[in-house]
Amino acid sequence: MAVLVTGGAGYIGSVTVELLQQEGEDVVILDNLDRGHRESVDPSLPFYEGGIGDRKLVARIAREHRIESCVHFAALAYVGESVGEPLRYFDNNTAQGIALLESLVVAGVRRVVFSSTAATYGEPEQSPIPETHRQLPTNPYGWSKYFMERVLQSCDHAHGLKFAALRYFNACGATARCGEHHEPETHLIPIVLFAATGKWPHVSIFGTDYPTPDGTAIRDYIHVADLASAHLLALKHLRGGGDSDCFNLGTGHGYSVKKVIETAERVVGRPIPTQAAGRRAGDPSRLVATSDKARRILGWNPQRSDLATIIQSAWDWHQKHPDGYANG
Ligand code: UFG
Repeated sequence: MAVLVTGGAGYIGSVTVELLQQEGEDVVILDNLDRGHRESVDPSLPFYEGGIGDRKLVARIAREHRIESCVHFAALAYVGESVGEPLRYFDNNTAQGIALLESLVVAGVRRVVFSSTAATYGEPEQSPIPETHRQLPTNPYGWSKYFMERVLQSCDHAHGLKFAALRYFNACGATARCGEHHEPETHLIPIVLFAATGKWPHVSIFGTDYPTPDGTAIRDYIHVADLASAHLLALKHLRGGGDSDCFNLGTGHGYSVKKVIETAERVVGRPIPTQAAGRRAGDPSRLVATSDKARRILGWNPQRSDLATIIQSAWDWHQKHPDGYANG
């Protein structure tokens, strides 16, 4: 019996694959390598290059590897891109995601850990955000994930498919093997580190007039290895007969863009050039989670999500991989 990890060559997927492997799980990866990196996963693991919407392929994988659960990461995840190309996001994340669920249901798989997002909440009405907060996404990416949460609920009702939807806040950091390599890079911490090395001339600070203490936007930064451990716990929860549920994954502490840059300057031991810029479209001022539910029900206990620890781990990875996975 094996676990199918879709998007297992992506950033959070590869770190989760690494952990599942360490835990002795049989892992099979399905990734179309559109955004993922083949080098990010152990070459000895069963790996299928293909789409989640390929019903024949998923049926074959499920049969040949006796798939018992699926951890579903495969998705496009740029908020800005989704605003310009909504149909691509709804096709890739929702339509293909539904095809995957159909293949899983037909194959008799009844457990899914789903990669959801804080972007399903939209502009928060309260902070920190509990799971019961109303969900009103402000961009197609958030909607594409929101729809999948609803489809999963219907599949539970109709087919007894049990799921855990994990709503990530800001994934960051690295393990010794796996790190963050996006093309193009839009995420704050990698860009801050690129500016520290001179690879980028500076970090643009998107918005200095937010209603926050220093005027810059606040996010809840969570170490990717802590996210990975939540997936393992969610899998165990479902295997133990746990009910379908949604869980926020964050620390409950928010840091402003300026605070991230200051902390990075301490970690790398040099000043990081910055430039004030206008707000980025669609960015809320503050996104901070309450994650008590994941702690209470899953027994989740993030260990590596102190901001300096996160940045140190990302810095170590970028030092070893200045061109990301391109140089191995
Ligand atoms: N930022 C800058 N300069 C940059 C890059 C980012 O000031 O060069 C700011 C952003 O405006 C934001 C903060 O840094 O205020 C964090 O930005 P990221 O791009 O690192 O992350 P986001 O909060 O925009 O998005 C992340 C994930 C999304 C997910 C969202 C949910 O990338 O997939 O969290 O909270 F939807």
